[in-house]
Amino acid sequence: MGAVRNPNTRAVVLAAGQGKRMKSALPKVLHEVLGRTVLARVLGAVDELGLEHIHIVIGHGGDAVRAFLEANPPATSWSTHVQEPQLGTGHALMQVPLDDFRGTLLVTVSDTPLLTAATLRSLVETHEDSQAVVSLLTTVVEDPKNYGRIVRDDLGDVVSIIEHKDASASQREIREINPAIYCFEWPRVEKGLAGLSNENQQKEYYLTDLIGWAHHNELPIASSVAADWREVAGINSRLELAEANRLLNERVVARLALEAGVTVLDPSSTWVAPEVHAGADTTILPGCYLMGDVKIGSGCLIGPHTVIHGPVSVGDRSTVTQSLVVNSQVGSDCRVGPFAHIREGARIADNVRVGNYVEIKKSEVASNTNVSHLSYVGDASLGQHVNIGAGTITANYDHITKKKSRTVIGDGASTGSNSVLVAPVEVGSGASVGAGTVVTKDVPDGALAVGRARQENRLGWLERKRSQSEKS
Ligand code: UD1
Ligand code: CA
Repeated sequence: MGAVRNPNTRAVVLAAGQGKRMKSALPKVLHEVLGRTVLARVLGAVDELGLEHIHIVIGHGGDAVRAFLEANPPATSWSTHVQEPQLGTGHALMQVPLDDFRGTLLVTVSDTPLLTAATLRSLVETHEDSQAVVSLLTTVVEDPKNYGRIVRDDLGDVVSIIEHKDASASQREIREINPAIYCFEWPRVEKGLAGLSNENQQKEYYLTDLIGWAHHNELPIASSVAADWREVAGINSRLELAEANRLLNERVVARLALEAGVTVLDPSSTWVAPEVHAGADTTILPGCYLMGDVKIGSGCLIGPHTVIHGPVSVGDRSTVTQSLVVNSQVGSDCRVGPFAHIREGARIADNVRVGNYVEIKKSEVASNTNVSHLSYVGDASLGQHVNIGAGTITANYDHITKKKSRTVIGDGASTGSNSVLVAPVEVGSGASVGAGTVVTKDVPDGALAVGRARQENRLGWLERKRSQSEKS
């Protein structure tokens, strides 16, 4: 649990809506933006504030959302509250039991994947500094789409929010919109919430009506204009989801380039999640897709066309070319690829070569070892200075017992091309396995294992064949 730095402030995250326009069986908030759900991205931003508690209102697809939260809990203390049926954003807030809570409620929608903690923090500060009862974030956009519009009076003070569907033609001209992120002083807005009506186009209880209510009751309203509309852009369709991916990617690439000294040659074809970190003078070539917790050192060359799914770490000065790396570690000064597949907890030490068409799964590979061509290394442990010949296979799977067994190869050992190591089996230090050998029993240190039919040369074979065919 994260440390509580804001004891009298709670967040309410509204996540009960269906997101009809997504046309999806999956609740909108469980769609991913750069490898992480929109909900987790919003909760990640809220977490950074160190609030007392997060109330999450769920409804549509609620079981899936709750299961997701249980598997990926926020760092802050949290609870879910079911809204059923979903009668609007105001009705959603009514579902949260606030009992004798006194303090600030930070209420946010959950479909804004680019939202940052800094923006939330500045809204909370605006709210506290101005001692407002209601504070809201606003932003100005080119195309106000279906967003609620911010209505201000002649003095420029916010007086209400009008929903797109309820707005007049002239109100629809307003380009200052409601991102739906607010602070409310509780219990001072309790009466307003209880008194919301659903007499509007959508027959919903609008949370936005609390702004008009506060104005009507001469309660102080504060607003803060978010400088960057992208941060508060909601995703309502698959097109907006794609756009959010692109915008977040741009932000990550800018951070890597300007702060970390990383070259991303072609941001438009390179996808890098915010969870990815890389060191100075690393270059990421076109066509890479780097998602999840990924740590890449300095001076690396990644790509082109490389997929890395974290958790993954790569040391310094390593190259990973046209390859797939999933949940694994790669050391420094390694050369991986082209066309290598490293997966499921592989741990590769420094100065290792993993060449073309090599798959390494759940294995440890110690330093200065080469697996250069066409090999499968699964459930194995390879020592230092090992040379794995082209086409070597660890036969780790018994299809009858469905069990996997381990192969252990000692320091300085080597396997010839096309050898098969039938696990469980051990090849000792400095041992050699002859090409084409099927190893079914342990090879002692320093021994040579040869297990193949002895070669015979039949001299004069061609001549004999020819004379036979002439006779017939
Ligand atoms: C809402 C705002 C609108 C704002 C827009 C920003 C209202 C009435 N309107 O409209 O001013 O510009 O967000 O995206 O608030 N939700 C529930 N329960 C419900 C309905 C919605 O929890 O009954 C949640 C949704 O999961 C979502 C959020 O509230 O996270 C917004 O819902 P959505 O349907 O997208 O509202 P908009 O019509 O976009
Ligand atoms: Ca919305």
